[in-house]
Amino acid sequence: MKKTYYLHSYGCQMNLADSGVLAAAMEGAGYVPVADPGQAGIIILNTCSVREKAEERALGRLRELAHLKRTNGAALCAIGCMAQRLGSRLLEQIPELDIILGTERLFLLPELLAEKNGAPVVDIAAGDNPAWAEYPPAPDNPFSGHVIITRGCNNYCAYCIVPYLRGPERHRSPEAVLRDVAHLAAHGVSEVTLVGQNVNSYCSDGLDFAGLLRRVAAETAVKRIRFITSHPKDISDGLIRLFAEEPKVMGHVHLPLQSGSDRILGLMSRGYTLEHYRRRVDRLRQARPDIAVTTDLIVGFPTETDREYAATLEAVRQIAFDAAFMFRYSVREGTWAAQNLPDDVPEATKLERLAGLIALQKQMSYDVNQKEVGRVRQVLIDGVSRRDRTVWKGKTEGNKTILVSGGADLLGRIVPVRVARADSWTLYGELKV
Ligand code: SAH
Ligand code: SF4
Ligand code: F3S
Repeated sequence: MKKTYYLHSYGCQMNLADSGVLAAAMEGAGYVPVADPGQAGIIILNTCSVREKAEERALGRLRELAHLKRTNGAALCAIGCMAQRLGSRLLEQIPELDIILGTERLFLLPELLAEKNGAPVVDIAAGDNPAWAEYPPAPDNPFSGHVIITRGCNNYCAYCIVPYLRGPERHRSPEAVLRDVAHLAAHGVSEVTLVGQNVNSYCSDGLDFAGLLRRVAAETAVKRIRFITSHPKDISDGLIRLFAEEPKVMGHVHLPLQSGSDRILGLMSRGYTLEHYRRRVDRLRQARPDIAVTTDLIVGFPTETDREYAATLEAVRQIAFDAAFMFRYSVREGTWAAQNLPDDVPEATKLERLAGLIALQKQMSYDVNQKEVGRVRQVLIDGVSRRDRTVWKGKTEGNKTILVSGGADLLGRIVPVRVARADSWTLYGELKV
């Protein structure tokens, strides 16, 4: 069999970070990545289970790839969260699968491939697997990469399947994190994203999250540091202060609000009120006035009334997020909400609420982005525009996509760009000379 592999990730940045480590392990075992699954000896999908739709998408893709397997004889592997949730039940839906590995076992893939002798392998054992930490991650692209600082989650938000699939919270040592960041920097990466389900709860060797960020800024050569995800109940004064003091920490915080109603937030077990959330955002904006604040929102949570939905709209209007990921509630088997609350908001109402929220946020993003016009942003150029290959594409400090005209070879560079105009999702600017 050819020593080539195709790896695609669904879901959150934790999956992307896991895929970076797996890519390093595969390459260490002599496999070469390919962008076309038709050219791959090993086809790997890193799957997500967070909502029903995420599973449907991964299952649909696995079915297509199973067809390729029948014509090419490639090995087909499903790994990550949906593999963890369904285990051998996945074989009933996709009998062509050769390997199914859960969230803590996926790093064993290169070993398993070497030993494999025909029968499908399913391994979804729980518990930390120290093997994975041996591999410093491969970068996402030549300029940026992800480093995991915490695995698992202890929060058990009422709607969420993640803690059941990824186990309890485990923090990596500062030395392990620093080693991985330094490894990426040595490979030319200038921007690193530190990843955990709740980075603010980081605690290891007496170091909290703000302390870890300070060490990464001081002791490694990366120029830009990001992190995801922050939990509103745990975002500390020390972290907020860091935004005022540490220019390497990029001005963006992803802070999922979920709902603007305190009753719904309580039912969700989120551990904060809207007022607490708003005060934290105010403090963040005082510390770093141009910080971008993005969020996640759920509509149609069990028992959500029209008025509670209206409270979410009102919160979106008042807080003025730069961007939001918006979802309709999806029942996840085994969660507290699935066991204790009726899924009583009709599907049509959920869809209507979601459409209303998306329309409002689109307008809010448009208005917020107009304030960028005329400003000069430091942009990491990471590619070219899909529509016009003479136009560069990059990310601002606030993690906004910007298209940049002017300049010869800007790829991989951090350059000043004057924002000329903006719509809801994209900024457009010119290289400032
Ligand atoms: N750890 C992160 C994000 C986890 S999942 C955090 O706590 O913020 C990403 C987003 O998916 C969540 O923030 C939530 O908005 C959404 N989500 C999770 N479970 C969901 C469900 N059952 N139905 C709808 N949306 C859900
Ligand atoms: Fe899920 Fe809540 Fe943990 Fe985020 S903090 S992963 S939403 S349980
Ligand atoms: Fe999905 Fe797993 Fe992330 S369920 S959102 S890939 S932790």
